[in-house]
Amino acid sequence: MPPMEQPFRPAPAEAPIFDTSRNAWILSRYSDVCTALREHSLLQATPQGKPTSPDAGAAHARLYAEVQADMSRLNATTWRAEMESVLHSLLGKVDRIHSFDLVKEVLQPWSATLMVVLSEAGSVEAGQLRRIAEQLFFKKTHTAGPSKTNPGLSSFSRKFTPQSSKKAEATLNALLESRKLTLSKPMFSGLTQTLPSFLANAWLALLQNPDQVARLIENPALMPSATEELLRHAGIVQTIFRHASKDVNISDASIKQGQLVILKIASANHDSARFDKPECLDVSRRFGGHVSLGNGVHACVGSVLVRMACMATTPIFLSAGLALDRKSAPAWTGNTTLRWPFVVPVVLQRK
Ligand code: HEM
Repeated sequence: MPPMEQPFRPAPAEAPIFDTSRNAWILSRYSDVCTALREHSLLQATPQGKPTSPDAGAAHARLYAEVQADMSRLNATTWRAEMESVLHSLLGKVDRIHSFDLVKEVLQPWSATLMVVLSEAGSVEAGQLRRIAEQLFFKKTHTAGPSKTNPGLSSFSRKFTPQSSKKAEATLNALLESRKLTLSKPMFSGLTQTLPSFLANAWLALLQNPDQVARLIENPALMPSATEELLRHAGIVQTIFRHASKDVNISDASIKQGQLVILKIASANHDSARFDKPECLDVSRRFGGHVSLGNGVHACVGSVLVRMACMATTPIFLSAGLALDRKSAPAWTGNTTLRWPFVVPVVLQRK
């Protein structure tokens, strides 16, 4: 049996550190990260510390309005029913005798189908949108390369090159600007990129913790707390960056105007001062308050959709009776900002 490729383990939460080489403060304790996320003078920034928007408040209001407009075209019951029926249909089509990849066969097409439904695209645009969603979702995989336990990675590397991703992005922008679709760019990205990445990590965590699966199957009323715990334990955002627009103190950090502030989201979510046995997945954990969807003025505007998707689809996934295929291994992609498994090999569980 090949060794299971291990996911990235977050660095332990600790007091603020100043990195002189980057002129940056690194915050990793839960309390420090929360305070920083709520601090208005810390602006959203690139990893180099450049502010991403000159007017953070207005940009947030615009993004929020776009996503709300998309979401309100389907009511909550319709959203949920679509999520469930698309997943049932995809799980019904997979090869139930041999191993298959949960991400490629189920999660990525599931999210692309939802996006197409929401976009009200005609058949030509729908086909284009599906191809673009797939292209962008797997674009990072060319850096992963083939591996002994996952020879299929070499075909990913050939299919998804940086050049073809640039082309896909340009076609997407043109389609969205043509106004033939009822879809905003943040919705496209959140729905077809971030959401399936998170569900891949969340379901992998469940497959690795069969005791927690048994608890959820026995007591489905645990699904809301399980969703928060999956977001905490299997969140895909590792790091968020901020630019200090003026001097500000956060616990022991005296942050000066212009400095970069690096917020270690995964470390904060695993801070033992806040979470008892943080390394354990506990679907009945009572104390939530993770920072996986941000916090404060820039908190994720898709958070309602994310929670609904996790609660609606996870019971269906669990009832499919799948187990990790131990002959193969998950493959990971991403960087210090985001990290998720883009291959999760599974087989039907033998009773
Ligand atoms: C599980 C999936 C998702 C995760 C883990 C996630 C995570 C996050 C995080 C951590 C932030 C805060 C960024 C910051 O503070 O700098 C954020 C912001 C945002 N999210 Fe999500 N998100 C997810 C899904 C979605 C979806 C489905 C949508 C759209 C429907 C969406 C739209 C946005 C937008 C537009 C912002 C920017 C808000 C602003 O800049 O003010 N996200 N997300």
